Amino acid sequence: MQSVRIHAFGGPEVLRLETEPTPEPEPEEILVRVHAASVNPVDYKIRNGGYDAQDRLPLTLGRDFSGVVERCGAKVDAFKPGDAVYALLTPDRGGYAEFVAVKARDCAAKPKSLDHVHAAAVPLAALTAWQGIFDNASLSAGQRILIHGAAGGVGHFAVQFAKANGATVYATCSGSDIDFVRSLGAEVAIDYKNQRFEDKVRDVDVVYDLVAGDTQERSWSVLKEGGIIVSTLQQPSKEKAAERNARGAHYMTKPNGGQLAEIGQLIDAGAVRVEVGKVFPLRQAADAERALEEGHVRGKLVLKVA
Ligand SMILES: NC(=O)c1ccc[n+]([C@@H]2O[C@H](COP(=O)([O-])OP(=O)(O)OC[C@H]3O[C@@H](n4cnc5c(N)ncnc54)[C@H](OP(=O)(O)O)[C@@H]3O)[C@@H](O)[C@H]2O)c1
Repeated sequence: MQSVRIHAFGGPEVLRLETEPTPEPEPEEILVRVHAASVNPVDYKIRNGGYDAQDRLPLTLGRDFSGVVERCGAKVDAFKPGDAVYALLTPDRGGYAEFVAVKARDCAAKPKSLDHVHAAAVPLAALTAWQGIFDNASLSAGQRILIHGAAGGVGHFAVQFAKANGATVYATCSGSDIDFVRSLGAEVAIDYKNQRFEDKVRDVDVVYDLVAGDTQERSWSVLKEGGIIVSTLQQPSKEKAAERNARGAHYMTKPNGGQLAEIGQLIDAGAVRVEVGKVFPLRQAADAERALEEGHVRGKLVLKVA
């Protein structure tokens, strides 16, 4: 099969389209023919050497996919060959490939209303948003949430999940994404380059931080007493949290087939839409990573594999 791999860390030029053996599924795994794989910031962070993955070289990049079951391991009865599925992969697998072997429990049926390109855009970004605002922040109806980075892959799902759950959403994004973010359900969208969010919002129950640094630091001033800052990037200060009787959490997203099935139902019900900014063929994975790393991608970038 063809896959996009790296043999050394570096810029987009280290990505190589190669031929490698098709994986064999373990008894609890399924072998999937990948139709599309999405590009996530973690891909270029790994490629740049930002994660300790030396012992895994050469490695195939890509953390999520949508595809069709080719073959099932002996202990799998939840899926059969021909089923369309999507999933978040564990870090030891790569989605930029024609086939991938994945634990059946990490997969869910592809949402019927989406083609493979749009379905591939969902798993990592949507599970991250779901686990951040529900599992970590326990967001409930009637609460107020501020989402930093709302027009990106994770943020555009977070806005919609929060809104669908009855929360009032405040969001930061680039000026050109204001209308987009409002169309997703944000009550107020704030241009982070030209406005200070502290002037536009206060007393939020939850800050969902996809940006970190100074943005996270400044967010304490808009958090209610007893509130929470949840970040995908950086553990919020324990001292600042204690001063406000508040909490901070940093987490890593985990594969979860059950949550992906719930997310798929919301998508098929029309409550959540999937924004794909641009589609690239697998052989242009380097261009896709370069585009995401340079910034200002609306929604997700996806590689079309089959
Ligand atoms: N811990 C985990 O398991 C986990 C899981 C998923 C993601 N992450 C991390 O979470 C971050 C977001 O992921 P993603 O996939 O959503 O990335 P993304 O698609 O690149 O989106 C990031 C968004 O943030 C916006 N942004 C940049 N600086 C900002 C600022 N100061 N204020 C407000 N918005 C700002 C960008 O807008 P412009 O480009 O227009 O400036 C962009 O829309 C990444 O760093 C990723 O590595 C971590």
